[in-house]
Amino acid sequence: MSKTGAIILAAGKGTRMKSDLPKVLHKVAGKSMVRQVASACQRAQIDELLFVVGHKAEEVKNALGTQFFYALQEPQLGTGHAVMVALPILPDDIDTVFVLCGDTPLLSEDTLKAMAAQFAEQKATCTILTAEMDRPFGYGRILRDPLGRIKGIVEEKDATDEERKITEINAGVYCFHTDSLRLAVADLQNDNAQGEYYLTDVVKWFYEHGKLVNSYLASDTMEILGINDRVQLAQADAVMRHRKCIQLMKDGVTIVDPNSTYIEMDVQIGQDTIIEPDTYLRGDTVIGSHCHIGPQTDISNCKTGDGCRIFRSVLVDSQLGNACQVGPFCYIRPKTVLADRVKAGHFVELKKTQVGEGSKIPHLSYMGDAIIGAGVNIGCGSITCNYDGMNKFITQIEDGAFIGCNTNLVAPVVVHKNAYIAAGSTINKEVPEDALAIARARQENKENWQRPQKKQ
Ligand code: UD1
Ligand code: CA
Repeated sequence: MSKTGAIILAAGKGTRMKSDLPKVLHKVAGKSMVRQVASACQRAQIDELLFVVGHKAEEVKNALGTQFFYALQEPQLGTGHAVMVALPILPDDIDTVFVLCGDTPLLSEDTLKAMAAQFAEQKATCTILTAEMDRPFGYGRILRDPLGRIKGIVEEKDATDEERKITEINAGVYCFHTDSLRLAVADLQNDNAQGEYYLTDVVKWFYEHGKLVNSYLASDTMEILGINDRVQLAQADAVMRHRKCIQLMKDGVTIVDPNSTYIEMDVQIGQDTIIEPDTYLRGDTVIGSHCHIGPQTDISNCKTGDGCRIFRSVLVDSQLGNACQVGPFCYIRPKTVLADRVKAGHFVELKKTQVGEGSKIPHLSYMGDAIIGAGVNIGCGSITCNYDGMNKFITQIEDGAFIGCNTNLVAPVVVHKNAYIAAGSTINKEVPEDALAIARARQENKENWQRPQKKQ
């Protein structure tokens, strides 16, 4: 079986980003640009991906992982040189190879699939992704012969005034017959305005050797946007987020205002969930169906069941069961696990805490490193004192316990089943099952108390 591959050029520095981070690692909709390109290739069922790395190569490789091929291009002598370096590393059984850039995050798998289909159908040697641009400045222009056949690509810097008027541009994405590409690349020269080996020169070589080069016109010019600076980065981010919202809405999610909703690419949301404005859903977040999220909520890497209500809250790296109620103004910190029907109300902070089914923490509490059973009520203002300045300790509250308002639970401590704690207690000893614990000074009333007087 023949295989397809992709060579993704990611060796450049990206000077105009003005950044310590390599350009291709800047994120669009929560995912680095080069990963977005890789994902599009994978969704288009391209078998093997090879990245050409150079500037901060180790950083780029670490971000992408070990499941890909890498070619090191050092120094960077142009796009043709990048492909020269890559081809010897490309596995031999790949007979169709894409070349694309790591800085075009909006490229879709549909376009790659359509290019591959046309390439195969017309038995082309090279299919070039092209676009019609009103303002083609900066792009390579497509040159055609009198019969309309593509005979070359000329870079802006090498073009004549006449050629600069051409509005058909090279998007920098190609599909090649691998063996032909190997032959053409071996003949590349760098006698041009930039002294670089241009990949685009292979097109002229194919034309002169009687090979078929055709073009596939991008339906949406945004798809080919190459990101060079942070203004374009923000533009791409907006397009990507919009695409994500459209996809979710088509799948049955209500998004009240897509323009103020920031949902990253890998987030999943169930049907009939409503997302209100100014909400951020990030990372690997999975939201169930029939939930109501927002307004003003920020959720990162959390998983929720169905029917949850979460508003004006921040949730990080945690899990919620079904029908939980969270907020307003709740902060759920990493490794918190809420069972079904848990309430974490306003001004509640939970950290690394498990809460059992139906338990309620309605207001003004901090629970950290706690294991809370089912049917527990945590009164207003109660906190775990889980940290002695050096170490963290666990607080255990068993099923059915009632924690009175303003209780301090000094960990490590266990409150057993159905125990009852009087309001205002500082608990530092185990409370037995069904017991009442009172740990506060007894009230004393002084009758006819004379208030202090102001000095004359
Ligand atoms: C290239 C095309 C141009 C096309 C445009 C589309 C060439 C000569 N020109 O120009 O026709 O219209 O893309 O965006 O190919 N890179 C390397 N190693 C290098 C040089 C570049 O890995 O030695 C990488 C860069 O990191 C970048 C990509 O290749 O991701 C494109 O390089 P860039 O210099 O931006 O090419 P353009 O001048 O935009
Ligand atoms: Ca570019």
